[in-house]
Amino acid sequence: MKVLLIGSGGREHALAWKLAASPLLTKLYAAPGNPGIGETAELIELKIADHKAVAAFCKENQIDLVVVGPEAPLVAGLADHLDHAGIKVFGPKAAAARLEGSKSFTKELCLEAKIPTANFEKFHDPAAAKEYVQKRDRPFVVKADGLHAGKGVVVGTTVSSSLAAVDEVFAMPGVAQAPVVLEELLTGEEASFFCLVDGETVLPLASAQDHKRVFDGDKGPNTGGMGAFSPTPAMTPELEHRALEEIVRPTARALARANTPYRGVLYAGLMLTAEGPKLIEYNVRFGDPECQVLMPRLKDDLLTLLLATCDGALDQVSVRWHDLAAITVVMASKGYPGDYQSGSEIKGLERAGAIEGVTIFHAGTRRDGARLLASGGRVLNVTATGKTLKEAQTRAYQAVDLIDWAQGFCRRDIGWRALGR
Ligand code: AMP
Ligand code: GLY
Repeated sequence: MKVLLIGSGGREHALAWKLAASPLLTKLYAAPGNPGIGETAELIELKIADHKAVAAFCKENQIDLVVVGPEAPLVAGLADHLDHAGIKVFGPKAAAARLEGSKSFTKELCLEAKIPTANFEKFHDPAAAKEYVQKRDRPFVVKADGLHAGKGVVVGTTVSSSLAAVDEVFAMPGVAQAPVVLEELLTGEEASFFCLVDGETVLPLASAQDHKRVFDGDKGPNTGGMGAFSPTPAMTPELEHRALEEIVRPTARALARANTPYRGVLYAGLMLTAEGPKLIEYNVRFGDPECQVLMPRLKDDLLTLLLATCDGALDQVSVRWHDLAAITVVMASKGYPGDYQSGSEIKGLERAGAIEGVTIFHAGTRRDGARLLASGGRVLNVTATGKTLKEAQTRAYQAVDLIDWAQGFCRRDIGWRALGR
């Protein structure tokens, strides 16, 4: 079976690593991929936004399955185009990808399907939004519609910071076209919950916890994610059952009823509140870095699961996990998530990767001859498994300490929530 993987991050390297272990795989292509992905896949240059060119490549090379890593091509309708061209694709069509592409779409769907989420109101005008905040005299989370690379949400924690959040979000590019959502501030622990959905059947995979803030102790600005671990003790079997029955299954049913069935992996960002799990957001893809901790724990063949999702056959498969904990420490360029320099050399990956249980997934790296250089914000994902989360954490930081990269930094406390319990 020939597979084309789309994307270039740590998530896609973890997917490539797991796909490469599949007995069904005969050839893996990646567009554009990265040097780590290039160890098991043929890297190709393709303009992903040119859906016709992607379909033409698939036809010429007899691709059996396209796996789309990031959200942007899905929101832009790549899956629609490939499906129309008769090419099998893992990832939802544009109508269902609105779950990530439009905050207001998802909030309305939650309202209709009675899915637990923060109460909300929509605004087209900053003055009206501010009046609302002042009248309620409570903090609000302010969310722009559309994709903003994780930067479209500003969390107000007081009335005055919520008023500032309204101004900040209304100043974002493209905000004039769609309503801005103001929603109540939820409190609790956050968890990322992943399910495969084939239109009808929902197959729960696992949960993970991300570390969104850039510095230790959850300080500093939000990032794409500085590290993750799985499984998550906070997400008890009871909470997982509730998230499945109260949130994910009703969502899949609502989309199927609307004739826009969801096919792919559905990532529910949850707040575990005192009243139970509530939906913060949906993503229509695997999390990054959450995928990096799920793949090493997955015992079953990934390709079989992705195909079952595409074929509407999830009721015929099951999923098993290794009895291991996994942790990923993200190494980023100094300055991230703000400005940073690219082009510094990274050494020592072989030594670090030789530690038991350790796998290093690349994100923003590039090769210059034999040298490996940093070329992005998030650069490396040092992933380790262990019999316990503590063992996994110890191994991951042992590996981090063997990596010789002066321009890099990482958080030193990944896993603290679970380990501090
Ligand atoms: P989102 O892009 O919707 O995931 O929001 C980014 C981050 O903002 C989330 O991971 C949460 O940490 C935070 N957040 C979003 N919505 C809420 C909410 N209603 N209450 C508290 N925190 C929130
Ligand atoms: N780790 C957060 C995300 O993938 O959106």
